[in-house]
Amino acid sequence: METKNILGIDVGASGIKGAIVDLEKGELATERIKLSTPKPATPTAVAAVIAELVEKTGYEGNLIGCGFPSIVRNGVAYSAANIDAAWIGTNIETLVAGATGKQVVAMNDADAAGLAEMRYGKGKGQMGTVLLITIGSGLGSALFTDGHMVRNSEFGHLYLQGWVAEHYVSNTARKKYDMTWEGFGKRFNEYLLHIDRILSPDLVILGGGISNEYKEFGKHIDKKLNVTTAAMFNHAGITGAALYAYEAKFGEL
Ligand code: BGC
Repeated sequence: METKNILGIDVGASGIKGAIVDLEKGELATERIKLSTPKPATPTAVAAVIAELVEKTGYEGNLIGCGFPSIVRNGVAYSAANIDAAWIGTNIETLVAGATGKQVVAMNDADAAGLAEMRYGKGKGQMGTVLLITIGSGLGSALFTDGHMVRNSEFGHLYLQGWVAEHYVSNTARKKYDMTWEGFGKRFNEYLLHIDRILSPDLVILGGGISNEYKEFGKHIDKKLNVTTAAMFNHAGITGAALYAYEAKFGEL
């Protein structure tokens, strides 16, 4: 029987994180390792850091799940908002497989986090429309309808007040414009109300490091919206990528 401990990797604008995931428990089986994303984050430079990370985990399995901060279709990156433009058109799976000698299944990073949250976290058993939003360098989104994922939603790229939403309310935007938590919360509320008009989600789950501060900025979110923070915090992306890779190869867990 195939192992249910799979290596998950989460490529982000500032860090590349990875750990072996125990998919039956939905927990990390090894410590999470984080290496800096190279600058510039070109395909070859990132692949080399991923290879180093794989080595450091001591992973002996053959399958890797990789979450990546762009639209990913059939293993290929189709956008590059927070990563080097040279990624557009690059087959992530082939490139990382070449660098690591392992089989690779790639997906969007927010989709990975959303999948983990739906299977092991706050989205478990939730029917209807669930939207996970990751707040980090960019704004990522993962959309689920009755538990099924609609891949590659990009709700961080909606237009809001004439801005691309992630330039208006991401963590990068908060720092760049020196926002208070109140200022950030008010902007984030505008963003969520806009999404509510378009999508009427039954539940919105917030992920990414900044969701820890929800007790601060959450005060400014309209009470009619059903918003909660993710249960899995900084390992949702790793866990979801591993789960997705496993199920792509072996079918449902
Ligand atoms: C990208 C998304 C990604 C998100 C979080 C956005 O800029 O367009 O694909 O999920 O950042 O990394």
